Amino acid sequence: MKLRLHAFSFAVAFGLALQAQQSYMASADVAVFYPAMYDAAAHSPSPIFIRELAPQGAVSPAWKLRPAFSTEDGKSVVRIKVDADADLYGGGEVWGPLRRNGKTIEFWNVDTPCYGVDGGTHLYQSHPWVLGLRSDGTSFGIIADNTWQATMTTDTEIVFRSLGPAFRMVIIEKNSPQEVMQELVNLTGNMEMPPLWSLGYQQCRYSYHPDTRVKEIADTLRYHKIPSDVIWMDIHYMDQYKIFTFHPQEFSQPKALNDYLHSKNFKSIYMIDPGVKAQEGYWVDDQLMANGYAVLDEEGKPFVGKVWPGDCHFPDFTRPEVRSWWSTLYPPFMAQGVDGIWNDMNEPAVFEGPRSSMPITNVHKGGDGLRQDSHLRYHNVYGLNMVRASRQGLLLANPTKRPFILSRSNFLGGHRYAATWTGDNYSNWEQFMASIPMSITLGLSGQPFNGPDMGGFCGDSNGKLVANWTAVGVYFPFVRNHCIDGGRAQEPWAFDQECLDVCRTAINRRYRLMPYVYTLFQEASKDGMPVMRPVFMADTKDKSLRAEEKAFMLGGDLIIIPRWAGDANLPSGDWDILPLEDKDDGFQPYLAQRPGSVIPMGNLYQNTVEMKSDSLTLLVNPDAEGRAEGRLYEDDGDGFAYQQGNFAEYKLQAATEGKKLTVSISKVGGKAAEKQRTLRVGIVYDGKVTYSPWTASNSVTMKVAPDKQFGIDKSKLTFPQVPELGK
Ligand code: NOJ
Repeated sequence: MKLRLHAFSFAVAFGLALQAQQSYMASADVAVFYPAMYDAAAHSPSPIFIRELAPQGAVSPAWKLRPAFSTEDGKSVVRIKVDADADLYGGGEVWGPLRRNGKTIEFWNVDTPCYGVDGGTHLYQSHPWVLGLRSDGTSFGIIADNTWQATMTTDTEIVFRSLGPAFRMVIIEKNSPQEVMQELVNLTGNMEMPPLWSLGYQQCRYSYHPDTRVKEIADTLRYHKIPSDVIWMDIHYMDQYKIFTFHPQEFSQPKALNDYLHSKNFKSIYMIDPGVKAQEGYWVDDQLMANGYAVLDEEGKPFVGKVWPGDCHFPDFTRPEVRSWWSTLYPPFMAQGVDGIWNDMNEPAVFEGPRSSMPITNVHKGGDGLRQDSHLRYHNVYGLNMVRASRQGLLLANPTKRPFILSRSNFLGGHRYAATWTGDNYSNWEQFMASIPMSITLGLSGQPFNGPDMGGFCGDSNGKLVANWTAVGVYFPFVRNHCIDGGRAQEPWAFDQECLDVCRTAINRRYRLMPYVYTLFQEASKDGMPVMRPVFMADTKDKSLRAEEKAFMLGGDLIIIPRWAGDANLPSGDWDILPLEDKDDGFQPYLAQRPGSVIPMGNLYQNTVEMKSDSLTLLVNPDAEGRAEGRLYEDDGDGFAYQQGNFAEYKLQAATEGKKLTVSISKVGGKAAEKQRTLRVGIVYDGKVTYSPWTASNSVTMKVAPDKQFGIDKSKLTFPQVPELGK
C-alpha cells in the first residue's frame, strides 16, 4: 500500500498521469518496474532490500532493459529481452555450469539429499537474481522481488513465472560487473565481518559422538599438525534430537567439552534445526505451544510434521514475537561454551511432506507490516527468517562477539544473517568439479561466505578425492570437511600418508594466506565483491574467459588453477605462477599472481587464536613499469570495535628504480595503532620467488633482476590426467 502511494505521489510530482505500468529510478542506475495490478501487501516488506525503494526520478526513454508483465496459464509472468551477446550468471545455489544462458531453475527450496530431487534443478536456496555481462564489458543485474514459488529461465529473454501475485522488478545498469555487485550490496545490505576463526579449517562429520570422540578428533588434528579452528557437532549431540538439549550420556558435560576444545584453541559449532519435537513436558515445545507460535495448518491448528525427532512443530519465523522468543533460547545454550550455530533442515524439511516440506496451504501470521499469508508465499524465506531470529539470539547471548551461523536454506539478501554451504553433495569427481561454479555463482548472487562439504557428503570418499578436493577447497571462502552418517571416515588422516601430507600442505597455505583472505572478507563486507570470483573478473572484456569454471579467482590478485584444469582459459598479461612450497606434490593447484599486485602472507600458525601478523612476507609481481600495489586490512578478528573505526587499513606499495625495488607498508585508514613489523619481500617471476632477508622495518629495498614479462606459460606447468590424480 505504502508503495502504491509512493508511486502515486511520484506520478503527481512529475505531472504524469498514473499509468497502468509504473516505473521509477530508485537511484542513478537502478530502475524499478511495477506490474499493472500490483498488490504491495503480497510482497512487502521485501526480505531482499535493507530499505524501501523510493522514487528519485523517471526512467529515461533510453533505459535498455524493460520488463513486460503478463498473466499466462494463471501464472504471473515477467519477460525481459536482454542483449543477445550477454553472458548470464546468478540464480544463487545452482548445480550446473557457471554461465547460465539457456537454463531454467525453480525457486522452491528443497531438502535434496545427494542433489537427488528433480535432477538437481533446485536446491536449498533461492536467489531470484541475474547478473548479465555484455561483450563490451558493461553489465546489468536483475532482481525479481518475489518470494512465491517461481521459475526463472535465463536466455535472450529472461522469464520469471510465479504462482503468486504479480511482482515488481528491480534492474541495475552499470559499466562493469564489479559495479553491479557493489550496487547489489547497496540494495541488499552488507555481510558483517565474520569472526576470523570462521575462515580457518573446520572438521565435521555426521556426527562425532560421544564427547570423547570429539576430543580425539581435536587432538588428532593437533597431533598431525593440521592447522584448524573448528569442530562441528551434528545432531547426535542432542537428547532424542531435541533442539537446545544435550544427550544425557554422550554429551553429559557440554561445558567441560567446550572448555577442552577452547584449551586447544578450537571453537565449537552446534546444530540447531527448526523442527521442535512435539512433546508435552519438553520446555521448548511447551513454550511454543503455550504462546501459539507454531506455523498453522489450513484449519488453524499447529502443523505437525516429521523430522529427526519424529513429530515436530515449527516456529512461525515470519512473526517478530516468535523471532524474539526464539532468540531467548540461545543465551543458556551458548553459555555452555558454544561458539557458533549450524541451522540445518530449514527449507523447512518435513519427512513424508509434500515436496519434502509442509503443505503450501499452511498459514504464517506475519507481523511488522508483513501480512498473514500461505506457505506458498513464505516457504522460500523460512530459512532466511529463521537465521534472522538465530542471529538475534547469538547477539543476545554474546553481544560483543560476531555471530557465526551456517544455514542450509536461505534467500537473496540472507547473507546479512548467515553463511552457507551447498548441502548434501556427493563424494565424487563430478561434484568436486561442480563445486567451483556453484560457489562462484553463490558469490555472484550476493552470498560471499560459502563452500561445499569438502571431500563430499553422500557415499564413501577416498584418499585421492579428499587430497585433490582439499588442495583446491582451501581457496574457497568456507573450508569444512564433512561427511554422512555411516560413511567412511574422511578426515585428512583417514586414508594414507599421501592424502594427509597433501591436505596439510594445502591447509598450511590457507593459514599463511590468511592476511590476504581476511582482507578479502572485509572487501566483500564493504563493497560486495565476492571472495571467490570467476576468472572473467580478471578481464571483463575478454570473451574467452566468460565460461571458465575450472580455474577461479581468490580475490582480485590470485587465480587458482587446479591440476586437472590444463585446458582452463586464463587471462593474458604477466600473471605469474607463485610457488608457495619448495616441493611440488602434484596435487596443489597452481596459483597465478596478478601483475601489479602485492599479496600479504603470514607465517604458519596452527590456528587463528595464535595467529600474529607481526612478520609478513609481501609477495610482489611487478607490472611492466616495475610497480605493484596491494591492501591489508586488520582488526581484532572478533567483536564490533571495527565498526567504530578500530581497524587498520594498510597500503602495500612497490616501486622500481633502476635495479632496486622498494616495497613499503603504510597505514592509510582506521584508528588502530600502526603495527611495527618485520618484513620480507618475495619477488615473483617466471615461477620463482626471490626473497629479501627479514628486515625490522616497514619498508624493504632489494635488488631486482632485469625486467621481464612472463605471463602464464602452460607448457612449463604439469597437468596430470584425472585418472593419475585418482578417482
Ligand atoms: C542434513 C545436512 O545437509 C547434513 O549436512 C547433516 O549432516 C544432516 N542433515 C544431519 O544433521
